[in-house]
Amino acid sequence: MEYFNHLEDLDAESKYLVHKSKEAAAHAYAPYSKFCVGAALILEDGTIITGTNQENAAYPLCMCAERVALYAVTSLHPNAKILKLAVTAHKKNHKELTPATSCGACRQVMAEFESRQGAPMQVIMLGPDKQWIKAPSAADLLPHGFSKDSLEV
Ligand code: THU
Repeated sequence: MEYFNHLEDLDAESKYLVHKSKEAAAHAYAPYSKFCVGAALILEDGTIITGTNQENAAYPLCMCAERVALYAVTSLHPNAKILKLAVTAHKKNHKELTPATSCGACRQVMAEFESRQGAPMQVIMLGPDKQWIKAPSAADLLPHGFSKDSLEV
């Protein structure tokens, strides 16, 4: 795991994805939590896919930005490998980024995407102390996570 105090210290691709995730977050549908999240990921061929959180009056139906983006990849580009994913968030009417580290459900989904593609997916997010976190692999974010290995007979 790598930690950076300033966004400028990250590599160019990560900075670009952070920028794209911020742009996406502007279109989040978060009327209930007012917590606007954007995710941006880059595929092997350079394609960028974004997602935003999608809420619903029936609260449990809310979907995180990360999973919206990830499921768009496997729907639109079923065989593509994801190199890196960035996630950022802001509170409604606040311009500044607020810390947002992916929830456990998203980490579980990221881990399965990674194992399916057989190659690491880096994850960039802003930690609670406002440090940028760069995980070299989604698996690093979910030690001892559940996987299909347990289902094998
Ligand atoms: N949310 C995300 O989209 N991603 C995260 O990593 C954390 C939480 C969303 C879900 C919900 O719409 C709102 O943020 C508040 O939890």
